[in-house]
Amino acid sequence: MKPIIEFKDYTFKYRSQVDPTLYNINLAVYPGEKVLIVGPSGSGKSTLAHCINGLVPFSFPGESTGELQVGGEDPSRAGIFGMSKLVGTVLQDTDGQFIGLTVAEDIAFALENDCVPQDEIFSKVDEVAEIVDVKNLLKHAPTELSGGQKQRVSMAGVMIDDVDVLLFDEPLANLDPATGKKAIDLIDKISRTTGKTVLIIEHRLEDALYRDVDRIVVVGEGRIVADMTPDELLCTDILQKEGIREPLYITALKHAGCQITADTRPQHIETMDLAPYREKVQAWYKEAQLPPPRPGKQSALEVLDL
Ligand SMILES: Nc1ncnc2c1ncn2[C@@H]1O[C@H](COP(=O)(O)OP(=O)(O)OP(=O)(O)O)[C@@H](O)[C@H]1O
Ligand SMILES: [Mg+2]
Repeated sequence: MKPIIEFKDYTFKYRSQVDPTLYNINLAVYPGEKVLIVGPSGSGKSTLAHCINGLVPFSFPGESTGELQVGGEDPSRAGIFGMSKLVGTVLQDTDGQFIGLTVAEDIAFALENDCVPQDEIFSKVDEVAEIVDVKNLLKHAPTELSGGQKQRVSMAGVMIDDVDVLLFDEPLANLDPATGKKAIDLIDKISRTTGKTVLIIEHRLEDALYRDVDRIVVVGEGRIVADMTPDELLCTDILQKEGIREPLYITALKHAGCQITADTRPQHIETMDLAPYREKVQAWYKEAQLPPPRPGKQSALEVLDL
């Protein structure tokens, strides 16, 4: 299969910067894949997204070398408008993205731009509003919504476009853990039901992994330092080295001296095979001489069935 996004030896430098922000990027994403991009603040994740949607170089000028194609187009030739037919982006800060006076107008904007007939617009807006659960908000002004509601409206806006690639840049920023879970669920639903290619940029790894992803790409100082499955990545020390917080249960197991292996499927604690780690954790627990649990409470070991 041909990749829908392909970077080949791609280097990019913002005009206002002395050094490149992205170095020698080689990355292929295939149609329908769901890829998580993680990396510390300032590592170049949003820049990578901007190269894909054409904001680089049209809104953020700079020079690139190497090759990049997205849906068969070179974003630096196709322009922002050209790329908007292929890539839908939900940005870190959703406020600047609203155009309409009401939520409904905002969601419909792309269609009105494309001269779609009125009744078709109404039914499509209704359909996506239902999926992202904002049907009761359609008459509200986007500015009077909560952070989580704004984000769902942004998601509806990109879903209504007939684009092949969806880019979510820090979808969990400004959301509390429960709302964040809903957002990850929603992205998962969009990915599974539409078959679109989905890229999620996020530094809250444990939250983002709440639903399966096919691959994790780790960006560090403008370079791709890992591109592997979550199960493979969680066995390495790459996340620690890059300063990204790994899931707490992984840190705890490593702390107890366990060598995590991919065959125990560490991506989700609920489905992970903990049996191979039992002995080490029990020994560590004994040595740590932790106080016994309070009467009627389970110890951490019992909770984890270790
Ligand atoms: N428009 C711009 N013009 C010039 N330099 C920029 C621009 N946007 C980002 N940079 C620089 O590029 C580097 C990477 O920024 P980028 O926004 O891609 O990081 P990030 O990984 O998305 O970080 P965060 O997790 O904080 O969002 C930073 O050093 C930043 O100063
Ligand atoms: Mg960013």
